[in-house]
Amino acid sequence: MTQPANDVTRAEARSALELAARASLRAPSVFNTQPWTWRLTGDVLSLESDPGRRLGVTDAEGRLLLLSCGGALHHARLALAAEGWDAEVVRFPVAARPDLLARVRITGRAEPDPDAQKLASAIGRRRTDRRAFGERLLSDATLAGLRRAVEAEGAYLHVVPGDRVPELAVAVDLAADVNFFDPPHRTELTMWTHRPAWTGDGVPPNTAVEPSLRRVPARNFLPDGSPGLLAGVDHDEGATYAIIFGDTDRPVALLRGGEAMSALLLRATAEGVATAPISEAVEVAWPRQLLTRLLSGIGEPYLIVRLGYVESDEGIPPSPRRSPVEVIKIED
Ligand SMILES: Cc1cc2nc3c(=O)[nH]c(=O)nc-3n(C[C@H](O)[C@H](O)[C@H](O)COP(=O)(O)O)c2cc1C
Repeated sequence: MTQPANDVTRAEARSALELAARASLRAPSVFNTQPWTWRLTGDVLSLESDPGRRLGVTDAEGRLLLLSCGGALHHARLALAAEGWDAEVVRFPVAARPDLLARVRITGRAEPDPDAQKLASAIGRRRTDRRAFGERLLSDATLAGLRRAVEAEGAYLHVVPGDRVPELAVAVDLAADVNFFDPPHRTELTMWTHRPAWTGDGVPPNTAVEPSLRRVPARNFLPDGSPGLLAGVDHDEGATYAIIFGDTDRPVALLRGGEAMSALLLRATAEGVATAPISEAVEVAWPRQLLTRLLSGIGEPYLIVRLGYVESDEGIPPSPRRSPVEVIKIED
């Protein structure tokens, strides 16, 4: 077992790591599956994927699971930096254990990082906002900041030019159609949109949006037509559609892609920009090829994110989360 840095006691390290794991509970995840477990052993915090929470139909290859887990890892790293802890993160530390995604260890104290504090304070405010965004455009400076945030995590951001958004819409629409006409997919969707409250997961109707005309279709999380949020009077006129992508789709690259996703979503939230991930087009083979074409073949698409501003003072209710005792295993 590793020893904590000299001036940090084991108790301090454990308490800081547990708080970081707790901060990660609010990370976004596909269908709000939260497919991860944290294990605190000695002074090491391990992140494990939970294969029982992988979407067997929608995410057969586990790409979205790894992106989701990467989001949790980035939330935890941010929480540590915001509290003034230096940490070492080793991704996939044991080749024979592909479910062991990362080990985090405190290596010492640092000044609390003001930028990390700003982003960490956005964790509780961030929501997937599926309503339509208005005409207001993101400024070039805001977009440049978001791109830097993604690149700092080892991934890339491609902003889809306005004249190619229809191509993106076709890719998402095709994928949505494939999913819609696939009975096992519909069963999976129904399961994750009809969760009993005690599970603390899934996508409840009060965070889903009712179908309406959009530049790029929003995912229908109301498969039985139950009422949800109204999209609003706008139609995403000013929305920016960006694709997070990387060099490969190897597991470590996807995990880092998830860290980049979290960096993007939290920085956007901190800047007052609303966000909504869209993954349908990466879930189905042919639409994913269309996305690769939008990237001119230079990378592997991980996730689409819609960014913009909502012309409404009404907030989105927080989606549920699993309880810390269920997700964080505290051992000696
Ligand atoms: C990898 C990934 C893929 C996602 N795909 C979609 C999607 O296609 N459509 C959508 O509306 N939300 C999508 N989401 C958002 C999740 O549904 C959302 O994070 C989850 O329900 C929790 O809600 P919150 O983000 O408001 O905390 C995705 C999130 C992640 C991390």
